[in-house]
Amino acid sequence: MIDYSVGSDGIAQIIWNNPNGPVNIKNAESRAAFVKAVDAAVSDATVTGIVISSAKRDFLAGGDIDEIYSAASPEAAIANVRDVGACLRRMERAGKPVVAALNGSALGGGLELALACHYRLAADDQRLRIGLPESTLGLIPGAGGTQRLPRLIGIAAASKLMLDGKAMNVHEAKSLGIVDAIVPADQLIEAARAWALSHPNAVQPWDAKGFRYRDFDPQSREGRWFFFYGWPKLRGKSPAGDLAAGALLHVLAQGLERGIDAGLEIEARYFGMVAASPSAKNRIRTSFMAANAARKLARRPAGEATFEPRRVGVIGAGLMGAGVALVCARSGLQTVLIDTTDEAAQRGKARIAKTFDGAVERKLMTPQARDAALARLEAGNNMAALAGCDLVVEAVVESAEVKSQVFRKIAEAAGPQVLIASNTSSLSINALAKGLEQPANFVGLHFFAPVDRMQLVEVILGSETSPRTHAHALDFVKLLGKTAVVVNDGPGFYTSRVVAAYTREALTMLDEGVSPALIDNAAFIAGMPIGPLAMADLTSYDLLTDILSSLQREGRGTACESDKALSAAKKLVKAARVGRKGQGGVYDYPESGKVLWAGLSEVFPPLQQQPEADEVVQRLMHVQSLETIHAIDEGIAEDAMEIDLASVLGWSYPAWRGGVLAHVDDTGLKEFVDQCDVLAERHGRRFLSPASLRRRAETGETFHVH
Ligand code: NAI
Repeated sequence: MIDYSVGSDGIAQIIWNNPNGPVNIKNAESRAAFVKAVDAAVSDATVTGIVISSAKRDFLAGGDIDEIYSAASPEAAIANVRDVGACLRRMERAGKPVVAALNGSALGGGLELALACHYRLAADDQRLRIGLPESTLGLIPGAGGTQRLPRLIGIAAASKLMLDGKAMNVHEAKSLGIVDAIVPADQLIEAARAWALSHPNAVQPWDAKGFRYRDFDPQSREGRWFFFYGWPKLRGKSPAGDLAAGALLHVLAQGLERGIDAGLEIEARYFGMVAASPSAKNRIRTSFMAANAARKLARRPAGEATFEPRRVGVIGAGLMGAGVALVCARSGLQTVLIDTTDEAAQRGKARIAKTFDGAVERKLMTPQARDAALARLEAGNNMAALAGCDLVVEAVVESAEVKSQVFRKIAEAAGPQVLIASNTSSLSINALAKGLEQPANFVGLHFFAPVDRMQLVEVILGSETSPRTHAHALDFVKLLGKTAVVVNDGPGFYTSRVVAAYTREALTMLDEGVSPALIDNAAFIAGMPIGPLAMADLTSYDLLTDILSSLQREGRGTACESDKALSAAKKLVKAARVGRKGQGGVYDYPESGKVLWAGLSEVFPPLQQQPEADEVVQRLMHVQSLETIHAIDEGIAEDAMEIDLASVLGWSYPAWRGGVLAHVDDTGLKEFVDQCDVLAERHGRRFLSPASLRRRAETGETFHVH
């Protein structure tokens, strides 16, 4: 766990060396070993200085997330940080210089440990990341980070880093003053020892007499101004339901104006409260555990050899096809982009080049990487170029007939063994597979727009898709750096079906005369980043009429009641309000921003008595969970963690809520069913809970463990 030795120069070396895994993490066992080593060094009179380093690729990746996740109470969570917290304080006041030698990334608890050292040296390595990402998991730092970082680099800079949770490279860390020096990796330990030997009286700035904050004192006018006015602006992006940002404010405002020991105590208390809260559990489960499981391809069929495509084809150079070709080329694949004419294909390629240029401008890509990616991309109208492709993604117009012709041409050009993936957003994968010679090699790969930025890909298995194709599709998604959710074929697959249910409910309310501002605001209150009506304007009402009618015909789940929503969409089309692509929809879009269309109340006379916002929130959020449970019952979607992850990545369901199924758990199964029964009585049978949910409510079987 921890290697401990004392050199002939009197410098003790404490080396993190986890024998059970590739990275060091702070768990109960390693914490105890670390505390023991520090105490040995502190109490040994022959030790004149301490160097802390790591024998692994990373310095220290932070706390044990499983441990934090399973802490059921604030007290249990605090118990995970108390021992190290106290030890770090003893260490920095022991009268011996302590140096952190960062050979690799120091994140979260790793950086907190380094901040308790008197000096931080980092290896000159581009891969090395430094940061306090706790807020991305709904947490706040709990081992001194909130108190030491602002005292080291200033309150404003530290606040931003902790709120964003973004990691930085060593050079950024150096310019902020988090890292004191950068040295070549092979000189790191030697340089750390030398610093310790030459600074026998090292003291932390906050323990020195006359300590002052770099930017402003918390009690100064500027400090007051910052916490009262500056902070709400800074935290603007973090949703109200997330406890972490609010807790961070309290910890900083109260802790920084006191001495560091009082500040650390305040931090520990708030850490416990936040770590035990549902918003932290939800974020940890979905954004960390489920995301990791998906990245590791937890649902990949075992025993299939890894798919290592070299050359891939994309048919259709429109919005989606060009996006897919972009991510393929960016991921190192030889990519052939084909459209009906050479011009259309070249237009697609030009759009890709423009996106790459933008990435280069924003320093997200080097010019060399852009040139190499473009060199991997061939565009044209000759299907023969598909020869040698291991996989071809079809992204032509949404017509079964056109797609079937394209599949035939792909098989002719690339050979019958080629893996064919369709990016259809609504056509049945099983129906499309019927015309294929090798239906086992066929799968749905539903990318989301814009493809270069959206993380999720919905992998749709047809009834004849082979385990090999399933495995290879997941390998391909991983190679593109994206996250897959695996579902079975059915109308609207999984994601489109639930988004349709959400949009349908919003349009139903609009048709009933509920104020459109109330509908979209209710979604904001619930934590959605964009209101459902603003989103419907983007999709457009002619397309929505098609989508909702086709789901109504299938009659599954909450689509059993679609009349009002369809009526609303048709009224908008009739009033020439087809959406953003036309002259606007529910909203007008003048240059100055979006405003509600003035003619709305004529088309949708408002109800005299508007519903409570709570009820509108319930209608919008509960319907998504109900639709999901129908999809599970029908065998479309299966894994609760993966489903919740899909809702967060696919349509920005609020991460602090954990996802569509966590929402049911957090409401309480019985309470959820009761609320839905009330909604069913008032608004229609689509709110009736499926039998499987009623059974769960009786037995208390939640979807997730926490
Ligand atoms: P688009 O209209 O932008 O692009 C379609 C392209 O396919 C056009 O460039 C067209 O010239 C080309 N094309 C048509 N027939 C062809 C053929 N026989 N051979 C080669 N190229 C042909 O459409 P978009 O939006 O890119 O959609 C493509 C597919 O992706 C559709 O199936 C759509 O349902 C699906 N999809 C669309 C999403 C979106 O947000 N637009 C999201 C997810 C899936």
